[in-house]
Amino acid sequence: MLRDEGLPRTFARVRGRSLHLAEVLSDEDCCAQSMPDASPIKWHLAHTTWFFETFILEPREPGFAPFHPAFRVIFNSYYNGVGDKHPRPHRGLLTRPALGEVKAYRHDVDRRMDALLARGIDSELAALVELGLQHEQQHQELMLTDVKHLLAQSPLYPAYAADPLMPSTPAAQLEWLPFEGGLAEIGHKGTGFCFDNELPRHRTYVAPFALASRLVTNGEYRAFIEAGGYRDPALWLAEGWDRVCSGEITRPLYWIERDDGWHEFTLHGVQPLDPERPVTHVSLYEADAYARWRGARLPTEAEWEFAARQASLGGLPTHHPAAASGAGLQQLFGACWQWTSSSYAPYPGYAPAPGAIGEYNGKFMINQYVLRGSSCATPEGHARASYRNFFPSGARWQFTGIRLAR
Ligand code: AVJ
Ligand code: FE
Repeated sequence: MLRDEGLPRTFARVRGRSLHLAEVLSDEDCCAQSMPDASPIKWHLAHTTWFFETFILEPREPGFAPFHPAFRVIFNSYYNGVGDKHPRPHRGLLTRPALGEVKAYRHDVDRRMDALLARGIDSELAALVELGLQHEQQHQELMLTDVKHLLAQSPLYPAYAADPLMPSTPAAQLEWLPFEGGLAEIGHKGTGFCFDNELPRHRTYVAPFALASRLVTNGEYRAFIEAGGYRDPALWLAEGWDRVCSGEITRPLYWIERDDGWHEFTLHGVQPLDPERPVTHVSLYEADAYARWRGARLPTEAEWEFAARQASLGGLPTHHPAAASGAGLQQLFGACWQWTSSSYAPYPGYAPAPGAIGEYNGKFMINQYVLRGSSCATPEGHARASYRNFFPSGARWQFTGIRLAR
């Protein structure tokens, strides 16, 4: 994320992108909440601002006074160390503060942050600002996935992106790439930014394995559906099968079956299902069942990181994952987050930061799975081989996809 431009410029650039993401949306689009897991755009814009106000300005700004005393609670996501919080499922009921007030809040905090940074930046402040910007980038990805879920609720199926989605050229052949494994080091290395959950770097044994050269495509996944994959309990973990039986999981989240074939709701509106692009918006249950049907399995996070050590990181974000093109190990970054079979657990010796900020990652290390790589919605410069994303096994509204291992 950091370029050679200096922290104040990086701050302005990253903060500006959040507003830019909201530009094409109406005020109504920005206020609504489609489900408890997703947040309104307005809430994202305010909460990312709250992060800087609460964790940087409050302890460091001379004569600190909050922009609005109620915002400390309204825009606190989950930090018990900060105090009370507004109930998550009710974020969409916050018609006030209005979007304009939230923009004024952003502007005010940006101005105060600029003044603070102009007074000098010690290493502790620089680290907090960088954490705040990395946090903002995580929310930029969530803004896209949350607004996608919201727009999908409208019978009009509105497009977020104005440009059309072009049909892909054929996806590269799936190849099995062998890896020797051995005693491997995983976790973040070097002096660049990482989240605390990527530490400490440690040794772990990785048995020989093979990884699919690319992600599973829509066409391949459609064959699984047509072969009765969602009707065969032998393929499914018990929890997943329960959700299939209840009707919650019957196809990837945004697939639509019409008389003229499968379609997919995308940020470009409803499009004919492109068989060459990777399947996305699947749960861990679906990824696991598909892998079993193919006689394969999901990779562990150590295998994934071992294989991705030398890979180049994704480029500019787009609104939909592109098909694999090229040779060798592809789509590690920039297409879909890849479910792993690894529970989201602390690395040996993991220690969260003291205080409320220590709640950032550590307390979620229960009942979730690790996803590796990055997606088409991940901001430029945010991805790393050691990055550990995490979601509960049933989550489907992120750009999640399937990489096979064996
Ligand atoms: C890492 C994407 C699971 O969505 O809660 C945002 C990112 N952490 N604010 C989440 C995050 C704090 C986090 N995920
Ligand atoms: Fe957050």
